[in-house]
Amino acid sequence: MTSVSPSLLSPDIPTHSQVSSKPLKLGIMASGSGSNFEAVAEAIQNGQLNAEIQVLIYNNPDAYAAVRADKWNIKAVLINHRDYKHREELDKQIVQTLHQHGVEWVIMAGWMRLVTQVLIDAFPQKIINIHPSLLPSFKGVGAIEQAIEAQVKITGCTVHLVSLEMDSGKILMQAAVPVLPDDTPETLHNRIQIQEHRILPAAIAIAVSNEQ
Ligand code: GRF
Repeated sequence: MTSVSPSLLSPDIPTHSQVSSKPLKLGIMASGSGSNFEAVAEAIQNGQLNAEIQVLIYNNPDAYAAVRADKWNIKAVLINHRDYKHREELDKQIVQTLHQHGVEWVIMAGWMRLVTQVLIDAFPQKIINIHPSLLPSFKGVGAIEQAIEAQVKITGCTVHLVSLEMDSGKILMQAAVPVLPDDTPETLHNRIQIQEHRILPAAIAIAVSNEQ
């Protein structure tokens, strides 16, 4: 067995469509491949999540997430962090873009930048992040390598609310993934991502229902 059964981890998860009839306006932030962004888009298409993705913000010009946005006909806006001297200036531009698009909740789906109070104050308790470990273990970059190095037998992924301290906000949902003896960072990441794509949309639904 390579992963924990979804039904063991998250029985009776309410979908957002069960708790609200008005589609939630999401803004997604991604730095790289964007497979989690696409998982949210798929959950919306499948009716698992009653939401609309208003905009994708990406910070690396060659991020594959932008290609996925094009495929889904979702507006993508490049905000390159290299153009900003201070993190607060970058976050001000991000907040302005999110507000312009009427975003209510912000999903950091592989956003590889630290956030500042500017972003947190603009969307209090409404920013969600996904991290490839069972927090509070293995925070920060290289979480998968950290887990292999520590020789843990189980790691996984966590969806949580974003607070100023990195990878530390309230945990919404987690999924466990065994570490196999011959795992490389890549093979382990591939199995973690299967769980990420499952729990991110479910956790968004839970966060929204908690708030209502
Ligand atoms: C995910 O593993 C996520 O946990 C981490 O960055 C990765 C992003 O993957 N924060 P993708 O771009 O969604 O494919």
